[in-house]
Amino acid sequence: MVNEMAFTTRSAAETQRLGRQLGALMKAGDVIFLTGDLGAGKTTFAKGVALGLGIREDVTSPTFTLVTEYEGRVPLAHMDLYRLLPEQGATAANGDGTGDTGASVDGTGSGGSVGSGSSVASGGGVASGSSLGSGGGVGSSGGTDFASIGVEDYLYGDYAVLVEWPGDLVHEVDDALHIHIVQQPLPRIDEREFQCKATGERSWKRLDEWVKQWLF
Ligand SMILES: Nc1ncnc2c1ncn2[C@@H]1O[C@H](COP(=O)(O)OP(=O)(O)O)[C@@H](O)[C@H]1O
Ligand SMILES: [Mg+2]
Repeated sequence: MVNEMAFTTRSAAETQRLGRQLGALMKAGDVIFLTGDLGAGKTTFAKGVALGLGIREDVTSPTFTLVTEYEGRVPLAHMDLYRLLPEQGATAANGDGTGDTGASVDGTGSGGSVGSGSSVASGGGVASGSSLGSGGGVGSSGGTDFASIGVEDYLYGDYAVLVEWPGDLVHEVDDALHIHIVQQPLPRIDEREFQCKATGERSWKRLDEWVKQWLF
């Protein structure tokens, strides 16, 4: 069984397809950690994962909430813990959160789309939109108390969990699929490398199944 693997995609639609294949394989209790710079394709990939989970609602960057829940074949807890990063100070503060809404994937022709219907701008609509306030819980010097902000309630339970900017949460979860997206240098502007690493039984199995789906 492989525990490390890299995938390359050459368009946003292809990234969404890659995500969809993983989403279709995910089970309750799975945890994915997703990292990569602004514009790398995290949201694009997350949209694909959601499609694969049978989620009909449009998944966006959870800018104002730490966790957004979506109903699907398996419910998804989509987290963005950017603002909890210890180094996230005033300078870099608006990095992902604000500049991030422009992601649009025109990959509707890429097949198998569950159809998100008309997308709702800001988390209203069909969304079950549970949200944890961003306040509190951030240790000013020490680590973040993930239990007290409710993040841990989603782990190892009924949810498939996708975490963007996991920060120190990576140290709390033994078995997770870590995916780091790297944007390739010019002129390969539409190329992304997905560097994946599984850290336990469960994630190894998922990575193995995913690789087979992608390649064959
Ligand atoms: N291979 C690719 N995979 C993902 N996105 C790509 C790719 N090529 C170009 N793009 C573009 O890069 C941007 C990625 O944005 P987004 O998914 O919001 O990134 P992030 O959430 O990491 O900031 C989109 O505008 C998308 O169309
Ligand atoms: Mg994003």
